[in-house]
Amino acid sequence: MEEGTEELLARLHEKDELISCILDLSHDGIVVTDSDGKILYAGKAMERIVGLIPNKIVGKTIEDLVRVGIIPDDAVPYRALSSKKQESTLLKSRNQKSFVLSTSTPYFDANGKLKYVITNVRNIAELEAMRTEVEAKDTYASKLPELAEIYRSKVVSDLKQHGIKDLIVKDKKTVEIIELIISLVGFKLNYLITGETGTGKSLFAKIIHHLSDRKNESFVDLNCSAIPINLLESELFGYNEGSFTGASKRGQVGLLEIADKGTIFLDEIGTMPLELQSKILKFLDDKTFKRLGSSKPIELDVQVIAATNANLNEAIEAGTFRKDLFFRLNELTIEIPPLRERPADAAEMVDYFWDKYTQEFHKELTLSEGARTKLINYPFPGNVREIRNILKRLVLLTKGPSVDIKDLGKVTNDHQADHFAADAADASEFKTVMGSFEKDIIKKAYETHGSTYAAAEALGMNQSTFFRRAKKYGII
Ligand SMILES: Nc1ncnc2c1ncn2[C@@H]1O[C@H](COP(=O)(O)OP(=O)(O)OP(=O)(O)O)[C@@H](O)[C@H]1O
Ligand SMILES: [Mg+2]
Repeated sequence: MEEGTEELLARLHEKDELISCILDLSHDGIVVTDSDGKILYAGKAMERIVGLIPNKIVGKTIEDLVRVGIIPDDAVPYRALSSKKQESTLLKSRNQKSFVLSTSTPYFDANGKLKYVITNVRNIAELEAMRTEVEAKDTYASKLPELAEIYRSKVVSDLKQHGIKDLIVKDKKTVEIIELIISLVGFKLNYLITGETGTGKSLFAKIIHHLSDRKNESFVDLNCSAIPINLLESELFGYNEGSFTGASKRGQVGLLEIADKGTIFLDEIGTMPLELQSKILKFLDDKTFKRLGSSKPIELDVQVIAATNANLNEAIEAGTFRKDLFFRLNELTIEIPPLRERPADAAEMVDYFWDKYTQEFHKELTLSEGARTKLINYPFPGNVREIRNILKRLVLLTKGPSVDIKDLGKVTNDHQADHFAADAADASEFKTVMGSFEKDIIKKAYETHGSTYAAAEALGMNQSTFFRRAKKYGII
């Protein structure tokens, strides 16, 4: 069907509107003349740039404007009309404060006859301002890493006010974790933190809490593997009076209730018995729970952060962990990489803990470059806990004044021995050295820390190993 007149007019009108819109909104001033120099169109920006009001000049000729002295006789449209070439000029603006760049371009019809001259007028001062603005943005962009660093140190110092004293966030991977946590503040999420032992799971759980809007509410830390299974449920959910044999008469508020409005940290969630996993799942689903011995549901607002160093997928396969709970907890998983994959953190930690312990123990020691590099390159299977403890031992137990590679072998335990022994004269010598120092180390740690538990923690050993060795050397 042929297009009707109405549709055609509507289409033309639309096209017209589009063209006027483009011309009027153009940041540059635009003037269109016909081949006789008659002004057919003048855009709104002309008034801003050169003080010519469009509807006062449309219909007049360039010659008219020259005659009354509004534009100079060498104005570019005038020149382009006679030269039939593109002409440009740079003139002082009317207020004499800046320059105006005008370019007139002739337009020829299909027969090569001059039809229009289009003149483009722009204020150089405005361009300059734009350029400065763009440059300022560029400078800002180039300063971003610096700003990010300032921001990061602010976050770190804020966290220090919350009792997180040692916090090293240097490696890109750790920075990204902090940034992720910050970007999620305000969202109600459950977190699952995974990572090898000593990578900082417990620390990052606290960081999530302290950076959140729950920071002034309680942070309840429950290590699921440290509490006997039969007590875990009552610890978590609380109980009413006389609900089970041995229960306190007055009943007890559970940790979940204590965490109301705040955060509960379920550490080592992988060790939680299946029956309790179902109850946690229910709580995560509807935010309500019942105390033991009570039928009254209690509603709470608790952020749940769980952590594990076990592979939960394997636990699910083995049937010891509920898949549905895994998915519920897994709204956001934060995977903390091992220290060996965060070399910038490892280097910073060696320096940080070295400074910290030399000051704390008033030791005038210097760490040789070789020893420092050796330490940084050690894969630290015990991660941050191990790096911290090895530096503590190093400072505490070496006499100095300089601490060299050979001194490292003296403060290492079994699994560290290979790495640090490589530079000792030979393996047998290393064994003898180790033997004689082991007694010394264990004795000093026991004297310094007063208990086998604290001394074992400081040495990065488990308590039973410490106890056995201390007994062997007649220290306890
Ligand atoms: N980025 C860090 N900067 C400074 N200290 C850290 C950092 N990460 C961890 N630590 C310290 O290292 C020690 C071990 O960290 P944390 O207890 O959080 O590890 P974890 O992953 O929970 O270990 P586990 O699996 O054994 O429970 C703590 O003393 C903690 O404060
Ligand atoms: Mg932990």
